[in-house]
Amino acid sequence: MAALSRFVPNKAMPFNAKLFDIIGADETLGIAKHEMTLLPPFPPGSVIHDAACGLGPVTEIIIATSPPDNIKIEVTDLAPPMVGIYNNIATAKQWPSKAAIVDVQKLTFPDSAFSHVFLSFGLPILEDPVAAVIEIYRTSRKESVRRILTGRFGVLVRSWPLNPNPSTRTET
Ligand SMILES: C[S@@+](CC[C@H](N)C(=O)[O-])C[C@H]1O[C@@H](n2cnc3c(N)ncnc32)[C@H](O)[C@@H]1O
Repeated sequence: MAALSRFVPNKAMPFNAKLFDIIGADETLGIAKHEMTLLPPFPPGSVIHDAACGLGPVTEIIIATSPPDNIKIEVTDLAPPMVGIYNNIATAKQWPSKAAIVDVQKLTFPDSAFSHVFLSFGLPILEDPVAAVIEIYRTSRKESVRRILTGRFGVLVRSWPLNPNPSTRTET
C-alpha cells in the first residue's frame, strides 16, 4: 500500500490523532486489549514488534499490562504521518518506544529478532500480505508469540496465531 498522501483538501480534517480517534482508533484499542487477555504475561527480556502501529493501540495495551522494565518494543509503520503521530503520542504518554518508517513486507530487522510480533489490522490493506507473513516469521524466534489481528465487516474479529506447530495452535 502506498504511504498516505500529504495533500489535505481545504475542507478535510488534517491527518492527526483527532481525526483517527473519530474514525475508530478506539475500536482497535479495545480489540488489542482483549487480545492481551488471551496471552501469557510478557516475560522479562521480551523483544516485541508492533508492526503497522498506526496510533499505537497495541503499544498502549502492552504498556497497560505493566510488563517488566527490561522489555524492548520496536515500532514500525510505512506512513510517515502515522509515525509522526505515534511518536507525539509516545512522548506525551511516556512510552518507552519510538516508531520508525519501515515496510512490514520488507522488514529491516535480522532473523529471529523478536519474542513477540503483533500486526493489528494491517494485513488486509497490504499489497502483498504473504510477504508480510514471511517477514514476520523470519524476524521472530522459534518459540515466539506472533499474532495477526484483522476484522471482517467491522464485527467479527479474528486473531490468528502464526504458529506452525498444530499441537499448540489455537484460533480465537
Ligand atoms: C488500520 S491501521 C491499524 C493500526 C494499528 N495497528 C491498530 O491496530 O489500530 C493500518 C496501518 O498500517 C499501516 N501500513 C499500511 N501499509 C503498510 C506497510 N506496507 N508496512 C507497514 N505499515 C503499513 C498504515 O499506515 C496504518 O497505520
